[in-house]
Amino acid sequence: MTDHTAPTGPIENRPTALRTHLCGVLRDSDEGTKVRVCGWVGHRREHGEHLAFIDLRDHTGVIQCVIDTKVDVRSEWVIAIEGTVRRRPEGTVNPGLDTGEVEVGDCTVVVLNEAEPPPFSVDDRDESDEQVRLRYRYIDLRRPRMQRNLRLRARVNGAIRAAMDRQGFCEVETPLLWAPTPEGSREFSVPSRLHHGSFYALPQSPQLAKQLLMVGGFDRYYQIARCLRDEDLRADRQFEFSQLDMEVSFASQDDVMAYVSEAVLDAAEAATGERPPPITHMTWADALERFGTDKPDLRFGMELVDLGAEFEKTEVRAFSGSHLKALCVPGGAALTRSRLDALEEQAKRAGAAGLARFRVTAGEGDAALVLESPLDRFLSETERVALLEKTGAQEGDLILAVSDTHRIACTTLGTLRAALGSPPVGQGPHRYVWVVDFPMFDGVDAGGNPQPAHHPFTMPYEDDLPLLDTVPFAVRSQAYDLVLNGWELGSGSVRIHRRDIQARIFDTLGISTEEAEKRFGFLLSAFRYGAPPHAGFAFGIDRLAAVLAGEENIREVIAYPKTQSGADLLTGAPGPLPASALAELGIRTVPSPGTTPT
Ligand code: AMO
Repeated sequence: MTDHTAPTGPIENRPTALRTHLCGVLRDSDEGTKVRVCGWVGHRREHGEHLAFIDLRDHTGVIQCVIDTKVDVRSEWVIAIEGTVRRRPEGTVNPGLDTGEVEVGDCTVVVLNEAEPPPFSVDDRDESDEQVRLRYRYIDLRRPRMQRNLRLRARVNGAIRAAMDRQGFCEVETPLLWAPTPEGSREFSVPSRLHHGSFYALPQSPQLAKQLLMVGGFDRYYQIARCLRDEDLRADRQFEFSQLDMEVSFASQDDVMAYVSEAVLDAAEAATGERPPPITHMTWADALERFGTDKPDLRFGMELVDLGAEFEKTEVRAFSGSHLKALCVPGGAALTRSRLDALEEQAKRAGAAGLARFRVTAGEGDAALVLESPLDRFLSETERVALLEKTGAQEGDLILAVSDTHRIACTTLGTLRAALGSPPVGQGPHRYVWVVDFPMFDGVDAGGNPQPAHHPFTMPYEDDLPLLDTVPFAVRSQAYDLVLNGWELGSGSVRIHRRDIQARIFDTLGISTEEAEKRFGFLLSAFRYGAPPHAGFAFGIDRLAAVLAGEENIREVIAYPKTQSGADLLTGAPGPLPASALAELGIRTVPSPGTTPT
């Protein structure tokens, strides 16, 4: 058995009232010591009536206890065992366990609490249904995996705090009952008992609060902040999550990135024992061009190539879009027809009109590589050579190509790259990258107004300001994201601190002066009283901890997460309120059958 419970951090073995030692610390150097250990009954083996081996488990590990009197203890009972540490007999040493050389003998057992049989095994090797795990989360939390993940997360938090403190940041807590913030998701609202018909918003982030702290002269602020967003839940999204939130005055984008990089690299080192190399930068335009996304997963290649020049005069009708981009899938020639059809469907869902595919096979005799595709006969020799050479395709590979607008050609292939790429399995390298120079606007709202790519307080590059009135979509913003293994870890920006620029941005966004005043009046008013230039950032701690723990879903690093449908299976929340509570809040509810979360 491998000792999965052994924490990677140091163990503090201070005796407490009920015990002298933690289970996981006992070694052969403790031979002869009288100990009292406490914990849960794990694995048990009985040899006849009067000999039993009990694996006693606490958060530091497992110790084998040999009981040679008759005792009745069952799985997951809480017990204390008093006995003497001794070396295990020859041939019974367990090298998979940190305590595997010793055992506790001459034991007296005290039952501290009996337990009903657990609904699932606390052993990591038994995969149990997630619904059951969440319903009985307190038992699930005893499992080595959860112990490891939450302790890793605690180390991440500790390292972040230390790094921010060291860099002169001051931790300030901001309200949870607050006004709407501009992150753009749906908000949770809390009814006011004292002001019927009025609601607080739970903050999607401390964005406005931290900008006000800059006006308040705090200069460098940080917080491990709880944030709430009522959005569709996915592997990387929960209603409630935590951010390392920071803001700094009189600083540039590069300053912010340096502060944040230090905190992230320290956290990674604290979690994994290895410090990642310095984080590289890439522009948003480059990320889109080469990886088809603003969240490039750099753990594998498969970069997109541009074939516009070579196919300028092509006869291939399917290639009549304004841009032609291609991608080589190593070994992809072996993909089945149905898999390829599914990829085409995926490309169409991503907005492309179609997906051209070329299997690369060996030609007859000495002939060069052959492109197998219904489109092949329309290709000129130059085009055929360009397809092969630019993508670097070899025999057995597959070339995928999309001709469309630049954005669609890139993002479609970006989606397929993410689906087909094979990052190293397990705990491979973690690839961090800063993506900089985002566009200021991204898409339009129902009224045709450009939408902010980050939020309305993001500062454009001053050189691009003249473009606001002519080509707003060409305006670059001083916004930056941190990406890890294809996940957006965080984002931030230099903020607008000048009222004239803010007014121009609101104008471009179609936000009237009255509306701006209504939504963000308190911020705009504060900016009249001496707002320093400032910039900031926030990254998701759940996401960082999940990647560092090798988990694919952030639920695995959260003690009490919600299910996909937003239910808390442990407590049954959300639930109805008694009529008296509703009356006190001045709320009348409308029953809607069938909405009970599961
Ligand atoms: P943004 O909205 O990009 O920026 O959020 C920053 C980071 O928070 C994490 N995150 C989430 N994690 C889990 N579940 C969610 N539902 C969720 N939503 C966001 C992500 C994301 O990258 N105020 C700005 C930052 C700033 O400009 O300073 C903000 O909140 O990791």
